[in-house]
Amino acid sequence: MSPSAGTLFKMAISRNGRDLLIAPSILSADFLRLGEQVREAAEAGADLFHLDMMDGHFVPNLTFGPPVVEGLRKVTSLPLEAHLMVLHPELYLEDLASAGMQRVTVHAEATTHLHYVLGKIGALGMKAGVALSPATPVGMVDDVLDMIDLVLVMTVNPGFGGQSFIPHSLKKIAAMRALLDRAGASHVRLEVDGGIKAGNIANVADCGADTFVMGSAIFGKTPCRSVFEQVRKSLS
Ligand code: DX5
Ligand code: ZN
Repeated sequence: MSPSAGTLFKMAISRNGRDLLIAPSILSADFLRLGEQVREAAEAGADLFHLDMMDGHFVPNLTFGPPVVEGLRKVTSLPLEAHLMVLHPELYLEDLASAGMQRVTVHAEATTHLHYVLGKIGALGMKAGVALSPATPVGMVDDVLDMIDLVLVMTVNPGFGGQSFIPHSLKKIAAMRALLDRAGASHVRLEVDGGIKAGNIANVADCGADTFVMGSAIFGKTPCRSVFEQVRKSLS
């Protein structure tokens, strides 16, 4: 399917009547070969790229900022989304928009003024998302559903790639799906991030997730082409 008005995505995989998206996180890529790895993942079937930005305060790790986004923008035409694990996310939005970012997700726990920040993302012409860490209740998004395009349910504690999926997340994903359905928020995608592999993706999809961030699984030892094949097989 080719991208149509209203969506940034090509949506090649579907399950239970829902279009699913795979979003490789470059956090686990080899940064010395980043362009090459991104091209490989795009050819293998990535729908978009997930860029984890960390400030050493909201999470105990540091990654990269807008200059890397500018570089990636030249390497792929696929949509780019930022997952901001930073305090004061409002400080970085103009630079992200100028660098070519299409979607920005902020943590509900990282800002006192979530409504304001989401409004600012929209005003800069980007799509907005809200991320929830494992202990944050799903109801945190209730009053901003009309301002966002996605909710990101973290299935590990944010900060590092390569962690194990938290089993309780399955219940939380189902609760978020129920909340979105009750609210009639069919425009909001339900993304999951952390510990997603070919071995658990079908189970996670059946709880209601429709967008899957995958870092270490895609940029690990197994060639990413075979990982995408395994993912498609698990979801078929
Ligand atoms: C963790 C990040 C994730 C991470 C996922 O804070 O938000 O996007 O890259 O990596 P894996 O898939 O290895 O758990
Ligand atoms: Zn992430």
